[in-house]
Amino acid sequence: MKAGILTGGGDCPGLNAVIRAVVKKGHTLGYNFVGIRDGWKGLLELSTMPVTAEVVSGILPVGGTILGTSRTNPLKKSEDTDKVFKNINALGLDALICIGGDDTLGVASKLFDMGVKTVGVPKTIDNDLCGTDFTFGFDTAVSIVAEALDRLHSTTESHHRVMVVEVMGRHAGWIAVYGGLAGGADCILIPEKPFDIDEVCACVNRRTAANKRFSLIVAAEGAYPKEVSGIISKDKTLDAFGHAKLGGVGEFLAVEIEKRTGHETRHVVLGHLQRGGSPTAFDRILATRYGIKAVEMIRDGKFGRMAALQGAKIVDVSLHEAISKTKTVDMEIFGIAGVFFG
Ligand code: F6P
Repeated sequence: MKAGILTGGGDCPGLNAVIRAVVKKGHTLGYNFVGIRDGWKGLLELSTMPVTAEVVSGILPVGGTILGTSRTNPLKKSEDTDKVFKNINALGLDALICIGGDDTLGVASKLFDMGVKTVGVPKTIDNDLCGTDFTFGFDTAVSIVAEALDRLHSTTESHHRVMVVEVMGRHAGWIAVYGGLAGGADCILIPEKPFDIDEVCACVNRRTAANKRFSLIVAAEGAYPKEVSGIISKDKTLDAFGHAKLGGVGEFLAVEIEKRTGHETRHVVLGHLQRGGSPTAFDRILATRYGIKAVEMIRDGKFGRMAALQGAKIVDVSLHEAISKTKTVDMEIFGIAGVFFG
C-alpha cells in the first residue's frame, strides 16, 4: 500500500500530529507514504516530499504543517482535474489521505466519486464540519481566545473601556461562543444570529448602570448587524473556492458603540494568532486518534469516508455527509453563554 498524504486549506495546530500518527501506524501495517506539498497544489505540480519515520519524529507538538498548505482548488479547471489523475498514477498512489476542512474534503469527496480512494481527516479551527463533534485545532484556537480575553480584561477594566474582540469563524461562531464562554465575555456575536447594534449598546449601558465600568464583546468575523445585509469584508477579493476574505466587524462595531453610547471603545483582531503555534494536549490526542483512524480506514477499505469524533469514540462518516452543510453553533451552548451577558 502506497498512500499520499496532503494538508489543504488554512493551517491548524495538530496537522503534524495527524501526519506523525498516520506514518507510525501505517508502518506497523507495512504501508508507505508520499507527502504531497502544499495541498492540492502539490498534486497539480507533482511536488512531493518523503514522510518517513525520521521525518515525522519530533513533530507532535509543532504547529503548522511540515507538508505546507494552500487553498488551491484542483477541480476548478478540467485540465487541472486531468493533471490530478495523471499525477496520482505517476506517483503510484493506491490511496490518498486528505486532511482539511470543507473545501479540501469537498474535493476529496468529488475525487472519490470519480474513482480515487480518498479518506478524510477533519481539520479546521472553525469546528464547522458535520458528522463530527469536534475538529482538531478548535480547542487550541479556543484556548488562545480565552487567554487573550483574560489579558484584555485587565486593561479594559483599568481604562473603563469597551473592548470588541474579533475572532475567526466564517459561517459558524463556535470559536466566539466557546472562547467567549471560557474568557467571560459580556456579549458574543455570531454569524448564526445577525445582531442589533442598539441591543449591543444596551448591554454595555446595562453594565454601566450596574456599576460595571467596562465591557468585553466577542464577535466572530462572520457576524453581521441586521442593519447591514451580509458579512463585513474589507478585502473584496475571493479565494480559489469563492470565499470572501472576512474581517472588519470588530472595527465597525467599535466605532458604532462609541458613537451610540459615548463609551471609549477599542477593538482587537486576534486573526491568525488563533491558528499558530503548538496544539493543546486535547488537540494532540484528537489529531493522533484521527491519524490512526485514517490508516485503519484504508486497511478496512472504507474510502470516501472521514474520521470523526462522536461522543468519546472515533468513528467514520461519509465525506458527503461531512460537507453536506455547515455545522452551525449549538443554540444550547449559546444559551449558556448568554446567561453571562450584560
Ligand atoms: O477556514 C479557517 C479560517 O481560519 C477562517 O476562520 C478564516 O476566515 C480563514 O481561515 C482565514 O484564511 P486565510 O488564512 O486564508 O486568511
